[in-house]
Amino acid sequence: MSRPRKIVVAVTGASGAPYAARVLDFLRDEAAELGLEPHVVFTKFGRLVWADEVGTDPAEAYPFPTYAPGDMMAPFSSGSSGFEAMVVIPCTAAAVARIASGVSSDLVSRAADVMLKERRKLVLVVRESPYSLIHLRNMVAVTEAGAVVMPASPSFYSAPEGVEQLLDTVTARVLDQLGIDNDRMRRWTGALVGHGRKS
Ligand SMILES: Cc1cc2nc3c(=O)[nH]c(=O)nc-3n(C[C@H](O)[C@H](O)[C@H](O)COP(=O)(O)O)c2cc1C
Repeated sequence: MSRPRKIVVAVTGASGAPYAARVLDFLRDEAAELGLEPHVVFTKFGRLVWADEVGTDPAEAYPFPTYAPGDMMAPFSSGSSGFEAMVVIPCTAAAVARIASGVSSDLVSRAADVMLKERRKLVLVVRESPYSLIHLRNMVAVTEAGAVVMPASPSFYSAPEGVEQLLDTVTARVLDQLGIDNDRMRRWTGALVGHGRKS
């Protein structure tokens, strides 16, 4: 039997914690079946915004190893630990700046730095609006270094019904980028399915 694929889910302090919750819910239900081993880290403000926007206790909700934001002893702070992919969801403009400048001053930015230096998959689900020139330049820098920037921008062409389906127009594409099979959204087949507003 092959070893599980180890992945990092990092939650920073941008609005959009429900996106992270949808990804972690999916992994709680499917990780074993899909041969995945998720590890989780919250920044201080990631926990604060999660508490406000989601409200659950992640330690109770998820069985994954979870690390403190300053815990440089976490396995994924070294490239030798063999983590294949990392997603920062949601990702603050501040986290993008730390990653873009290589300031590995906390576990999230160190782990992201490791992903880039090891040429592994790094997905940043950035949430800020509007963007300043500094934000845009930092997103160019991380893209040039190999990261994938996916703005937390929902789409409507799959005719999502309700907030969870709307969130999943983002999280399905995030899971796609991480190489994780999922049926979290109705896929484009060439046919329009929205038919305008019903009321
Ligand atoms: C309620 C709340 C919502 C926030 N939303 C955003 C946001 O959408 N995008 C962003 O870049 N920062 C946002 N911030 C600011 C970040 O939390 C702040 O810059 C923090 O220092 C980021 O730290 P971190 O990157 O370690 O999580 C928000 C802060 C609060 C308290």
